[in-house]
Amino acid sequence: MSLERAAALVAAARHVVVFTGAGMSAESGVPTFRDDLTGLWARYDAGNLATPEAFHADPDLVWGWYAWRAARARAAEPNAGHRAVAALEAAIPATTVVTQNVDDLHERAGSTAPIHLHGSLFAPRCVGDGAHPAALIDAEEPDEGRRIAPPRCVTCGALVRPGVVWFGEALPEAALHAAVAAAAGCDVLLTVGTSGVVYPAAEIPRIAARAGAAVIQVNPDATPLDAVSTVNLRGTAATLLPALVPA
Ligand code: OAD
Repeated sequence: MSLERAAALVAAARHVVVFTGAGMSAESGVPTFRDDLTGLWARYDAGNLATPEAFHADPDLVWGWYAWRAARARAAEPNAGHRAVAALEAAIPATTVVTQNVDDLHERAGSTAPIHLHGSLFAPRCVGDGAHPAALIDAEEPDEGRRIAPPRCVTCGALVRPGVVWFGEALPEAALHAAVAAAAGCDVLLTVGTSGVVYPAAEIPRIAARAGAAVIQVNPDATPLDAVSTVNLRGTAATLLPALVPA
């Protein structure tokens, strides 16, 4: 019943935002952050790996960990949920995909221009001049836990860092601005596979709700976003999203 209601809301929408988190890629084999046992933050200390201070203190540890994650993401394939998001954009052209994920599975499934609020595993940049040297994470096939020295910038010689947003850092301004504008102007926002606890990204579905959009949540578990969701679909991205694509 609620699945039918959600599908009807999507079918009637003119502008849809799809807001995704790590659960979107879980069925592709990419680990989430906060799931018990399997989540990355259950197994690793974010403070040692995902802050500017951690990179400064031990660049080889941090670069090796991101190189391992990049290798896993590269080996993963988009799942039926990613493909449904791309099909939704084909059916409703005014669809904006806003992702917290640093993998490229939305792009590989066919989404044209997903907004990456937390950066990308595949866009390393120099800590000095901010340049984006190409293909640096491709250099090695890292194992879990292997330390790898980060490359040096070809222009200025400074260390190259992963192109992701770390704790304590600002989100990319243009991406955040575009996401907020899309959320404020949509009829329907789908929030998929996110715990909704990391700000400012977690504001995006709340902005849509405040602006009067219907919020549809796809998640096997309860989250703080239940409170702003018009329809809560308890299930996984790959099983539920295909049913929300207009025929
Ligand atoms: P989390 O790990 O916090 O939450 C993942 C959510 O996905 C949970 O609510 C799960 O219940 C749900 N989930 C698990 N499997 C699913 C499936 N197959 N289908 C649908 N949902 C599923 O991940 P995020 O919310 O993305 O930030 O985390 C937000 C940010 O915290 C990340 O972008 C990252 C992290 O620290 C940075 O690195 C800056």
